[in-house]
Amino acid sequence: MSRYIFLSLLFFIAFSCKEPINHAKPKPPVRGLITEHAMVVSAREEASKIGSDILKKGGNAFDAMVATELALAVAYPYAGNLGGGGFMVYRTNQGDIGAIDYREKAPLAATKNMFLDSLGNVIPDKSTLGAMAVGVPGTVAGVLTVHEKFGTLPIDSILKPVIDLAYKGVIVTNKQEKRIKKYQPLFIKANKDSIPFDKAWKTNDTIKYPKLAKTLERIAIHGKDGFYKGETAETLVNFIQDNGGIITKEDLEKYEAKWRAPIVFTYDDLKIISMSPPASGGVCLAQIMKMIEPFDLHKYGHNTLKTIQVLTEAERRAYADRSFYLGDPDFVDIPIPTLIDTNYLEERMRDFSFAKATKSSEISHGSIEIVESDETTHYSIIDQFGNAISATTTLNGAYGSKLYCTELGFFLNNEMDDFSSKPGAPNMFGLIGAEANSIAPEKRMLSSMTPTIIEKNGSLYMSVGTPGGSTIITSVLQTILNVHEFNMTMQDAVNAPRFHHQWLPDEIRMEPNLFDKKLIKALNDLGYIINEERSPVIGKVDGILVLEDKTLEGGADRRGDDTAVGF
Ligand code: DON
Repeated sequence: MSRYIFLSLLFFIAFSCKEPINHAKPKPPVRGLITEHAMVVSAREEASKIGSDILKKGGNAFDAMVATELALAVAYPYAGNLGGGGFMVYRTNQGDIGAIDYREKAPLAATKNMFLDSLGNVIPDKSTLGAMAVGVPGTVAGVLTVHEKFGTLPIDSILKPVIDLAYKGVIVTNKQEKRIKKYQPLFIKANKDSIPFDKAWKTNDTIKYPKLAKTLERIAIHGKDGFYKGETAETLVNFIQDNGGIITKEDLEKYEAKWRAPIVFTYDDLKIISMSPPASGGVCLAQIMKMIEPFDLHKYGHNTLKTIQVLTEAERRAYADRSFYLGDPDFVDIPIPTLIDTNYLEERMRDFSFAKATKSSEISHGSIEIVESDETTHYSIIDQFGNAISATTTLNGAYGSKLYCTELGFFLNNEMDDFSSKPGAPNMFGLIGAEANSIAPEKRMLSSMTPTIIEKNGSLYMSVGTPGGSTIITSVLQTILNVHEFNMTMQDAVNAPRFHHQWLPDEIRMEPNLFDKKLIKALNDLGYIINEERSPVIGKVDGILVLEDKTLEGGADRRGDDTAVGF
């Protein structure tokens, strides 16, 4: 036995003994809502119900998408929006796949250094609070473009229940009461006049949105022009400019949602279809899953030392690549085939060892020759015809820029913060960016959103996604693995405690008090820094799983007011 083998054996024995044993009795599985035909899972029951009712009326998943997305703008102003943007991945019942990008864009007057002072330092709050933080909104263009291509019901009949909801009002939940209270000081800071959310709303109060209803009526009548031109556009541009912003009528008129080819890859017997740039979700998810595929996670077990190590090390390497290579594909060349190539990823993991943590300072982006040539919301829908969509939409931070256009009845995003204001300077999610994600007029800022659809043996298997800023990708990852590797139900997979690593800062974030102290100690001993403070909640995943008997199981995250509705 060579000295090397002997030492490796010693290491192996030492570290396999450190694996904490879970003596707790396994809990019986918890199943989410089961339905036979169709389902919508979203952040609010009102939105899921409106979407499900559209399906009941004979609409398809795309009709239901329009209804659900706009209903979230009414019922979930924290992230649901008319003033933001998003991404959607679909799979039709014929097996056709595709994706749409309705991400916000930098205004025409944007400049690379617009968030820096004369010394080149990032100006605090400028990219997050108030009118300069706002990107040109994409949501209305997104849903209407989807409807144009795939919709079957007339747009006014889809919008009718949404408009009714806005007039009738939405009941404040306990979680919403707390959120509104928490952000009120920032509402006051961002807005010149008082806004409806300044009031001391209490649980079970009803908030009515008559102005938003009027804005939605203009969309129902005039389609895209009801938002990007005419009265709404005029009011919006005046409002933004009056608050010191730079968005013009031309910005709104020029906005278009874009069809994109999704990122497709395999993991064991799964075919995973996820969002392509300018969302980093699909590429990062592919990188992480390809890096971990050779390891026997099923054997290691859920949230055990070895599983956490493998996931953490793959995440570290993928996020390092993300920060260097990814940006808006209309502006930068992204070497996607290489980034998700099995050989490249094997090479990236070559220096990983179970014996100790890799230091992020020792990891950079992989070297690839380029050949010239943090509040969001997710919903999943499967219809009675077998079409599936997975959509994530956002204002970026909670209530976006906090700037609320009272006349139109909605918040405006602060998506400009998703650009890299300065190379190496972290954004609000601690993400570091480089030239690929620098600001330019009409460029889309890099996103972490990861709406994902999965096939198994050629059939629809899952629709899944989540909010959570930089933790979106790793939350989607863990949910998929929980079902596939650890045999959990969809609901248990969504409920399970989550952790996250993003290269920098070099720490594993964990949901507090949900991980065994001995496990944390074992990770510390291997050189991993654990942070249980930064993220009280990691992700808020919603998903639908197609069970063997073809019924649908919803997974609605217990972390929010999320609800599955179907029939
Ligand atoms: O596009 C992104 O990656 C971010 N704007 C998402 C923000 C988010 O998920 C906030 N939610 N907690």
